[in-house]
Amino acid sequence: MPKLPESDVKSRKNLGESESMPKDRSQNSKLQMHDSDASNTDPAEPDWDQRYLTGDTPWEKGYASPPLSEFLESDTFAGSVLVPGCGHGHDVRLLARFGARPLGLDVAPAAVNKARAFQRSGNESYRLGDLFKLDKDLCGAFDGIFEHTCFCAIHPSRRIDYVRSVSSALKSRGHLLAVFFIKIEDPEGPPFPVSSAEIDDLFHPYFETRQRWVPTAAYPGREGREEMRLMRKTD
Ligand SMILES: C[S@@+](CC[C@H](N)C(=O)[O-])C[C@H]1O[C@@H](n2cnc3c(N)ncnc32)[C@H](O)[C@@H]1O
Repeated sequence: MPKLPESDVKSRKNLGESESMPKDRSQNSKLQMHDSDASNTDPAEPDWDQRYLTGDTPWEKGYASPPLSEFLESDTFAGSVLVPGCGHGHDVRLLARFGARPLGLDVAPAAVNKARAFQRSGNESYRLGDLFKLDKDLCGAFDGIFEHTCFCAIHPSRRIDYVRSVSSALKSRGHLLAVFFIKIEDPEGPPFPVSSAEIDDLFHPYFETRQRWVPTAAYPGREGREEMRLMRKTD
C-alpha cells in the first residue's frame, strides 16, 4: 500500500495480546445492563436512531471498510478493540474474524440491534452507548481502537472531545487505527472533512503517528479521499 512520508513502523502491528482469544461471553450480560443507560439527547446532534429506523443511511455499504480489509491482509490488529460509532457492525465482525476481541459501540439502538442480529464471526460484542459518556468499565480497557466514519460524523466543535474519549478508552501505549475522510465535497456535513494538518494538531498531544498512508482499497466513490493512520497513545 502506498505510504506517505513520516512512516517509522515497517513491521506487523500486533498489539501485544495473544491472537488465540479467550472466550469472553461475560460481556454479553454487561451489554444488557448498559442498554438502558444510552440515549441521544443532545438536540444539536443528528437523530442517529431515526436515520437507521427510516433507512436514511447512505454510509451503510453492507460490508466492512475496504481499507480495513486491506490492512488486515498484511498486518494484525488484535486484542481488545473498540469500534466507536459501529453502525451495523461490519468492521466489528471483520476484526473478530481476524482474531481481535472487538466491542462495537453505538448511540443508536436500531444500529446496535441490527448489528447483533448478524451471525457471529468470532469474539465480537456490541454495546449501546455514547462515546462521550464512556461507561467506567470501558476506560483504559482497550488495546486498540478502530475509527471509521465516527469521527467525521461528529460536529467539528466536538473533535477534541472525541480525541480525549478515545485516548481515555485505550490502555497505556494503546493503538488507534483510523480511516479519515480527507476530501469531501460538501463541507456542511456530516460527514465533516478533516485535513492531515488538522489531524496532527488534534491528535498529536495525545498520540504519535506511527504510519500514515492513502489506502488503495476503497468503497466506490471514496477512492483517494481517505487517509489511514496508525497512531499510538503517548502515555
Ligand atoms: C456515519 S455513521 C457510520 C457508521 C459505521 N461506522 C459505518 O461506517 O457504517 C456514524 C455512526 O456513529 C454513531 N454515533 C454518532 N455519535 C455517537 C456517539 N457520541 N457515540 C457513539 N456512537 C455515535 C451513529 O449512531 C452512527 O451509527
